[in-house]
Amino acid sequence: MASLNINGRVHSHDAEPDTPLLWVLREQVGLTGTKYGCGVALCGSCTVHIDGAPVRSCVMPVSAVRPGQKVTTIEGLSADLPGGAKGTAGDHPLQKAWVKNDVPQCGYCQSGMLMAAAALLKKKPKPTDADIDAEITNICRCGTFNRVRAAIKEAAGMKTAAGLDIVHVPRRQA
Ligand code: FES
Ligand code: FES
Repeated sequence: MASLNINGRVHSHDAEPDTPLLWVLREQVGLTGTKYGCGVALCGSCTVHIDGAPVRSCVMPVSAVRPGQKVTTIEGLSADLPGGAKGTAGDHPLQKAWVKNDVPQCGYCQSGMLMAAAALLKKKPKPTDADIDAEITNICRCGTFNRVRAAIKEAAGMKTAAGLDIVHVPRRQA
């Protein structure tokens, strides 16, 4: 048996070393918030954090997670707030901004979007439009990119001014 530290808890698993982390999370640990989209590191729906950095878990062999590294999934996003209530779902500023801005449409890509956005805000607390375009390479088939951008800025304390930001179309959508 091997083990992984996921959302602050140690989980044992018996997956083959080359099994993608995504399938260990979903099928062995039961954390199904992380989604399978393309399976080839393109769409980002499988994004989780390893030691705070975003990774595409569909192409990461579980054996590549080194002992001591911390995996965070969407289920653990809100628990890492300083002073936050462990296990309280949905209290991350991004999750609140997501709700306020009605970001999701079908919702399938959204856990990956949130994880990518959370990693961005850790790295760049006040991201520019260019930062968001560069870092959030996740694909949303419903085209929620404008609301994603607005919610990221709101969570960053940068209220989106009416106008340009709202109508800006990210390059991935073209
Ligand atoms: S499912 Fe991993 S990037 Fe698409
Ligand atoms: S909300 Fe439907 S794919 Fe993004």
